[in-house]
Amino acid sequence: MSTNLHDKAQRVAKENNFALDRFLYEADYYTKDKPRNVIYDGVFEGQKAILKVYQDPRITDEPVSLAAFNKSNTSEILKAPQVYAHKIETPHQGWMIVEKLPESGRFFSSPLTEKDREEFLKIFLELKNNFPQKPTRQLRLAEHLPPADFNIGRINRWFELAHNKEAESIHKALEPSELIPRYTKALEIIREEFKHRDKEWIHGHFKPAELYKVSDTEYYLLDFAHTHLFPEGHELGFMIWADCLMNGADYSLSYQDWEQKVLDWVEILAPIAKTLKYKNYQQLIRASLIERILGTILADIGATDMAIKDKKDQLDYLYRLLDRFITPPNKYPS
Ligand SMILES: Nc1ncnc2c1ncn2[C@@H]1O[C@H](COP(=O)(O)OP(=O)(O)O)[C@@H](O)[C@H]1O
Ligand SMILES: [Mg+2]
Repeated sequence: MSTNLHDKAQRVAKENNFALDRFLYEADYYTKDKPRNVIYDGVFEGQKAILKVYQDPRITDEPVSLAAFNKSNTSEILKAPQVYAHKIETPHQGWMIVEKLPESGRFFSSPLTEKDREEFLKIFLELKNNFPQKPTRQLRLAEHLPPADFNIGRINRWFELAHNKEAESIHKALEPSELIPRYTKALEIIREEFKHRDKEWIHGHFKPAELYKVSDTEYYLLDFAHTHLFPEGHELGFMIWADCLMNGADYSLSYQDWEQKVLDWVEILAPIAKTLKYKNYQQLIRASLIERILGTILADIGATDMAIKDKKDQLDYLYRLLDRFITPPNKYPS
């Protein structure tokens, strides 16, 4: 347990008259020695609420981004928790007390069923219609970068995380002869594709586990810690990543079946991309997925404490998937 954050939650609760009840959740930044947040439920000014205390190596202003969304949101069906109190202490740490989700609901979960995916994508378009079109805060330095440089900067940071993890591990997961040629080629594609792309102000974490359904006409979206100016199309690759490569990934499937889930998503998202007016969808999703696959290899697997055998098994599938996307476009998708 991250004693510091738990202690701090107790202190913040006391100072702000938040009657702490139960510990709900904690998360770390890739490894257990880097706690990222803790969440408690309780009561604030007579209302059920939750307290989230965070410290993140990445810059975040979740309470402010959440409040900004609530201000611009006019959706009848999609909501986000109201912010009751908050403090941004530094660009990396702070806390917020927000409305608690109604009890009688459920989170979407990965992998989505076909029916849930349809609903999930309907709500995604609702989000796109209601999310602020323009940045609601001053841009951070990296958000000024051209989209290709922005993506490459992020990938370089994931590479650094993997690099450090490999250095401290006796058994190495990332075989240089397997990784480096693919990495180099992948960066070339990303550099080329994002050269001419726009940037977009987005929620930045729209995935099944952040969406809560109360009824057919009432949904809540959580986790505004990643609101950011991103290269366009990021959300499309991101939802495939969540549903097929991360939370929803089933590496016990045969490679063909596992890959097919990604290709199904690519097809399903084509009309959504059209609605959102992204040009050359096939090229965009190809480069966006390459970025996601690199992130999975380097950060979600490479930087973590996962057992070496699991790392190797998952990397085997991810390299094959990456090969499919980095081969010339006439081979993609079949
Ligand atoms: N307003 C809320 N009401 C009830 N539960 C919440 C609320 N916010 C977060 N949680 C619980 O905490 C979990 C993680 O919240 P989230 O803000 O997404 O954290 P993280 O930034 O670590 O992803 C949620 O999946 C949910 O179970
Ligand atoms: Mg979350």
